[in-house]
Amino acid sequence: MYVVISESEQDTVKLGEKVAKQLKKGDVVALSGDLGTGKTAFVKGLAQGFGIDEYITSPTFTLVQSYKGPGFNLHHFDVYRISDEEELFEIGFEEYLYEGDICVIEWADLIQNLIPPRSVWINFERLEDGENKRRITVKGLGTK
Ligand SMILES: Nc1ncnc2c1ncn2[C@@H]1O[C@H](COP(=O)(O)OP(=O)(O)O)[C@@H](O)[C@H]1O
Ligand SMILES: [Mg+2]
Repeated sequence: MYVVISESEQDTVKLGEKVAKQLKKGDVVALSGDLGTGKTAFVKGLAQGFGIDEYITSPTFTLVQSYKGPGFNLHHFDVYRISDEEELFEIGFEEYLYEGDICVIEWADLIQNLIPPRSVWINFERLEDGENKRRITVKGLGTK
C-alpha cells in the first residue's frame, strides 16, 4: 500500500500515468471516494499512460465507455447512478472483468461484492488544508 498527496489535477493525472505502467492485461482497478475528488482525472492519466488520446469523461449515464489500448481495451465504468446490481448484469459487467482487458471502475465501493478480490483499490480523499489537495491511497498494486 502507498499514499500519495496530490496538490493538483495534474498531479493526479501523473499518478494515473504511473499506475498505467504497472498494470497488465486482465487487471481491475477499483476507485472509491466522493464526487470531485479526482477519480476521473486519474482515469485520464491511466488512458494517457496507455497512449489513448481520446477525451475521457465519467460514463455516468452509459455506465461504461471503452477505449482501444495497446493490445487490450480499457473499459471505464462509473456506477454512481445504478439503482441495483441488475443493471450491471444487463450490460454484461462480469464478462468485461474476465476478458483480459483492463477495467477501471469509479464508485466501486458501491458494488464491493462484485469486485474481484485480485483488484487494485485506489481511494481518493479531499484534505482540509487546501482546495486542491487530495490523499490518494493505492492498495494491491505490485503485491500480487
Ligand atoms: N489534486 C487534485 N486531483 C484531482 N482533481 C483535482 C485536484 N484538485 C482539484 N481538482 C479538481 O477537482 C475536480 C475532480 O473532478 P473529477 O476527476 O471528475 O472527480 P470525480 O471523478 O472523483 O468526481 C476537477 O474539477 C479538478 O480540476
Ligand atoms: Mg468521475
